[in-house]
Formats: sequence, C-alpha cells, structure tokens
Amino acid sequence: MPVVKVQDGRVAVVTFGEPPVNSLGLTTRRDLAAALDAAITDPATAAIVLGGANGLFSAGADITEFGTPKMLAAPNLIDLIALIEASPKPIVAAIEGTCLGGGFEIALGCNYRVAGSGARLGLPEVKLGLLPGAGGTQRLPRLVGVEPALNLILSGEPVPATAFKGSPLLDRIVEGPVVAAAVELANAKVEELSGRAPPRVRNRPLREPALDAFLGFARNSIKAAFPNYPAPLAIVDAIASAATQDFDAGIAAERRWFSELLHGPVSGALRHLFFAERAAAKIPDVPESTPLREVKRVGVIGAGTMGTGITINFLNAGIPVVLLELGREALDKGVARIAETYEGQVRKGRLTKEDALARRSLLDATLNYPDLAECDLVIEAVFEDMDVKRQVFERLDASLKPGAILASNTSTLDLDRIAAVTKRPSDVIGMHFFSPANVMKLLEVVRGRATGKDVLATVMKLARTIRKTAVVSGVCDGFIGNRMLEQYLRQALFMLDEGASPAEIDRAIEGFGFAMGPFRMSDLAGNDIGWHIRKRRYADTPTMVYSRIADRVCELGRLGQKTGSGWYDYRPGDRNAQPSAVVDELISSYRAELGLVPRKFTKAEIVDRLVYALVNEGAKILDEGIATRASDIDLVYLYGYGFPAWRGGPMGYADAVGAFSVVHRMAEFARNPHGDPAFWTPAPLLARLAASGGAFNSTGVRS
Ligand SMILES: NC(=O)c1ccc[n+]([C@@H]2O[C@H](COP(=O)([O-])OP(=O)(O)OC[C@H]3O[C@@H](n4cnc5c(N)ncnc54)[C@H](O)[C@@H]3O)[C@@H](O)[C@H]2O)c1
Repeated sequence: MPVVKVQDGRVAVVTFGEPPVNSLGLTTRRDLAAALDAAITDPATAAIVLGGANGLFSAGADITEFGTPKMLAAPNLIDLIALIEASPKPIVAAIEGTCLGGGFEIALGCNYRVAGSGARLGLPEVKLGLLPGAGGTQRLPRLVGVEPALNLILSGEPVPATAFKGSPLLDRIVEGPVVAAAVELANAKVEELSGRAPPRVRNRPLREPALDAFLGFARNSIKAAFPNYPAPLAIVDAIASAATQDFDAGIAAERRWFSELLHGPVSGALRHLFFAERAAAKIPDVPESTPLREVKRVGVIGAGTMGTGITINFLNAGIPVVLLELGREALDKGVARIAETYEGQVRKGRLTKEDALARRSLLDATLNYPDLAECDLVIEAVFEDMDVKRQVFERLDASLKPGAILASNTSTLDLDRIAAVTKRPSDVIGMHFFSPANVMKLLEVVRGRATGKDVLATVMKLARTIRKTAVVSGVCDGFIGNRMLEQYLRQALFMLDEGASPAEIDRAIEGFGFAMGPFRMSDLAGNDIGWHIRKRRYADTPTMVYSRIADRVCELGRLGQKTGSGWYDYRPGDRNAQPSAVVDELISSYRAELGLVPRKFTKAEIVDRLVYALVNEGAKILDEGIATRASDIDLVYLYGYGFPAWRGGPMGYADAVGAFSVVHRMAEFARNPHGDPAFWTPAPLLARLAASGGAFNSTGVRS
C-alpha cells in the first residue's frame, strides 16, 4: 500500500505503507511528503494524523539505501522531518506495533504522539555501527532527559510504550484503536491552540544538572566496554551537543557523526553481517515455496556434551524431546546435566521456576529405539566414529516413521557415507551444532549429496525456531568452520616452532579482536580433539605437514582445562591460563631437535598468518561450492569461532584489506625459510580476485 490520505472531519489521516515493515525508502518518502504537503495546504484540514499501515508504524530507514545516492536523495529523512516539524497545523503520530529508527525519528518530529499499549519504540542504529541520524539524538533527550535517551540509543533495543507512561514522549497510551485516539487528540489540540503554532520538540529546553560528571562517567564506561566500536562514543557526543548547544548546531553535529560512521569500516562490517544473515537463509536452488515437513517432536541420540546441549535448544522452544542413550548411567547423567542447566538459570534469575519446570517436563529419556517412533526429526550426537554412527543410523532407519528426518551432529565425518546405510538417504542431513550447543548461535547445516530439498528447507526453518543462525555447508572434512580452523591451527603451531610462545600468539590474535586465541581455545575445547584429527591426517594425508608440538603436549596428558593443564597451567577451580614452564621447555627442546633458532615475531605477522590461513582455505571452500557465498563463511566465523564482528568476518576482512595485498603478504610468508610454500599458494579464487581487483563479497550478499 502506498501513502493514503483520508479526511476525518477537519483531520487528515495520512497512512504510509511499504510491506512488510513500512521502511522509509525514497518512494515512500516522496509520497509521504506529497501527502503531507497536500494536507498542510488544504484549507479544509486543521490537523493531521500520521500512521503506518500493516499494523505497525515503521521499522525505520531502508537499509539497502545506506551509502547509496538514494539515501540522500530529496526528500531524505531529515527533509521529511523538517517538513513535518515546520507544519503550522498540528501533526499527531499514531504509533502502533513497531516504531524504530527513522520511523521513531519521524514520530519525534511530530507535535504529539499517541501510542498503542502494545507498541514498541527504539533506535537500533547502534547495532549497525551508526547513530540515529535524523534528529533522534537531539529530540529524544529533549523529551525524556539525557540519561534515559542515552540508555535507549546505546542499547539499540526496543522498549514497550508503557515504559514511557507519564513522560512527555507520549501524550497518550491507549488500549483501543490508536488512529481514532489520535484523531480525537488532534481535534482537542485544534481547539486548545486556536490558531497558535503547535509546540515543537526542537524548542523544548533541555536542562540537565551535573551533566559533565554524567557524560564523563558515560564516556569512561563506554571506552572500557566497546573499545573497537566508534558509534557509542559518538552517541554520547551527539547527546552532549543536544544538552549544550542550540538545536541546529546539535543537528549539524549529529549529521557529521552519522556520515563519519556510515563511511567508516566498522559500520561497513556490521552492515555486511546484517545482510549476510538475511542472505544465509536463502538457498539458490531451494525456492521459498518448498513445502516443509512438520517437526513437533524431536529425538536426540547420545546424552553427552553435545546431545544434552542440543536437547535444551528444543525444550526451550517448546518442542518435546526424547533423549536416547546406550546405558542407564549415561542417560541419568545427561538428564541431570539438563536439570542443572535449568536450575542454574533459575538461580541467576534468567528463568522462573515454573518455566524451568515446564521445559523439563517436555523431556522423555529412554534406552529403547521404539520410543522414537513418533519423532519427526532425530539428531544423532554419539561418539565421533564412523562405525558407531553407521550402526546408529541403521537402527534409526529401522525404527523411525516414514518422512522423519535423520540428522547427524558429526564434526568431520562423511555424511554421504552415513546416509548410505539407510534406505532413505534423501531424509538424511547434517546439523552441526557448536559447543556449548545451547549457547552458541551457529548451526552448520550439512547438505549431503542426496539430501532432499524439503528436508533442507525444513531444517533451515527449524534453526530459526531454536534461535540459531544456520549456514548451509556441503560435505567435506570439517565442513566450513573446522576445515578452515585446521589451517589456522597449523599456522599457530608452525609459529611455535619458529620462536613464538602460546601466550604471545593468543595475545596477538585476541588483540585483533578474536574472543580467544588458538591455545586458550584448544585448552577449553580439549586438546585431544585436535590430536584425534591429526592422527587421522598422519594416516590419510601424510603430505599435510604438521608441527608435532601439539602431540607432545597431549602425550604428557595435558589435555586442557579438563585435566588442569594443557598449553597453560590452571589452578584448581580457576580458568585463568598461566604460562607453563613445562610447555616452554617442551617447545625449546622440539626446536632444538629441528635445528631451529627461535626468532622474534611481530603481532602483525602472527595476526596475518592466522587470518590469511583462514582466508585462503575459505577461498577454496567457496570455489568448491562447499559454501554458497563468502558472507556465509563470515557468519560461521562470527557465531562459531569468536571472530570480531567489527571486522566483518574473515572474507569481509580480506575484502577490506584487498585480495592483492593478501596475496602479496602470503608470498612473503612463503619465502620465510621455515615457511611452507605449498601452504601459502593462493587458492585459485583468491589469485583471480587479486588479479582482477575483485572482492569475495562483491556478489550475492544483498540479493
Ligand atoms: N564436543 C564438541 O565440541 C563437539 C562440537 C560439535 C560436534 N561434536 C560432535 O558431537 C558428537 C558427540 O560429541 P560429544 O562431545 O557430545 O561426545 P560425548 O562423549 O560427550 O557424548 C557422546 C555420548 O554418546 C553416547 N553414545 C555412544 N554411542 C552410542 C550409541 N550407539 N547409542 C546411544 N548413545 C551412544 C555416549 O554414551 C555419550 O554419552 C560427535 O560426533 C562430535 O564430533 C562435538
């Protein structure tokens, strides 16, 4: 629905609509400006009510216009709000449903605001590395005060209209029809004003006692909490302008900040990831109209670390789960672990006792396959062993009803070989969760050679239900994330050989922004996981050279936090990693064996070797069609491996550096006398991009 203007007595009701969320793209802005102009100049109109169609006010600007000429084309949001604010006739915003970002800023430009009690208002720009750029930082504090405005804008989270009860932000909060209430208020205001100009938010005084002390405190807290994000500090500065300068100077400051942030790398990275998330749900050869299977009951096989975490996801979403184990003891342990998780959440006040109970009551535990008969989907999370998995799938094939989906949580094994033991390979799919499975947001959905399109579409939809970000991966060893990680870890170990220490490497990459460096991460996950994979490599792929230091650490029984020592030492009950003299000694003697004289490393070399190891493998994964698009890889690293969001994921980061520079740096590493030239041979896609000046993310992301 475009913009519609309807006369209700002397009140013109202007409604704008742009399905699904009334975003404020150029066409909508143009139509809206024309309709408002017509109402303002119409002698039969004394007041205007402005509302949104589709049951909501507006979710804000059209983000696809950001950074394009369309965003600035007249009337831009600032022009539109200026037109509203300059109206000699009162304009009342009728706020229903969602009122966010630019939509909220339009409402702030109106003279009066009436909201439905279910409406939610917010300024989420900070999540895209921006600040509200159409007056939000100037008008909101004038209505609610500096501190509440700062909190709302910094959090980016929407707040219920009822939270503003008694604040001049909302003139009325109503239960019934919002537009009718807004028309009523408009009529009352026409009488009250009797020809005088309506009040404007820009003219409201903003006096704030102890402003400097508050702003100083806010700046210090923000610098500590968001060291790599420029938007939060810019928001404080913009609000400070609102409190200390006249309105026009404040608006000018806000505009400068907005433009600087918009063209800066952090907002670019965050917007890239925003579009990446939308794109990941789309699978080129699986149309949105693909029929879905119903998933009302789920089975989970194996009540270990992963099985219990996976189970919790479904219980939290209100989906009953049947958890199956080999033996009573393991089953009881798994059920107890689930109960403990909920008890912990109740203790921390994150969940009510009743909710915890309700979720637990959705769990059935069993030792018998026939109890899975009613399940629509069963996820296997048993030991990472092909024979064990194949046995489980044979039993599932024999026990499950026709149409049930058979999923494996395998991290490395060939899904097609698992599917081949069943008579229904098209019903088999990989659902690779990350540990802890009830916390980590990533789900790699592994598409086997025979996986049915409806099975894939169903699992992608289900991922949303359990609040995961799902990325499709083809079948290969390690899928997207772990296959790249293996090369990253190999580089980390080579650098130990050459002279770096585990703590030095961890510090460098954590300084780059990773949540955890490779050695702290291995100690957390268990060093035996990598050991197991390397043993397989030594047998299957002897050409893949590996430093043997990691094996020696494992041979000493130093498997990580779970054994009290790994790459680091851990004091009982303390997860803080302490550098280990034993490991230092082990590394020194290994270097001596190889005849390597240790050398110094710069942080830049450590970071570049680790990140470009990811990028080069990512390029192979893209070229082979294992990943659909570069931005999918970025999401995998953001949500599964703690890659810093503000750097946009490994492929987004490589795009920002430029493929040419990446390849040039890799050539330097290949010339290192202790380097591995084969390792640093650019993947064909990376070489092509370096030659053409292209980017991994140049296509597909915004489609
Ligand atoms: N731990 C991780 O970080 C992680 C991450 C992603 C995927 N995975 C994958 O998840 C799977 C499980 O890993 P985990 O860490 O939970 O292991 P785990 O050892 O903690 O749990 C495995 C459980 O499966 C049970 N089990 C073994 N054989 C069984 C059978 N035939 N029938 C029923 N139950 C059986 C065991 O009793 C055990 O409780 C593996 O395939 C692993 O590669 C693990």
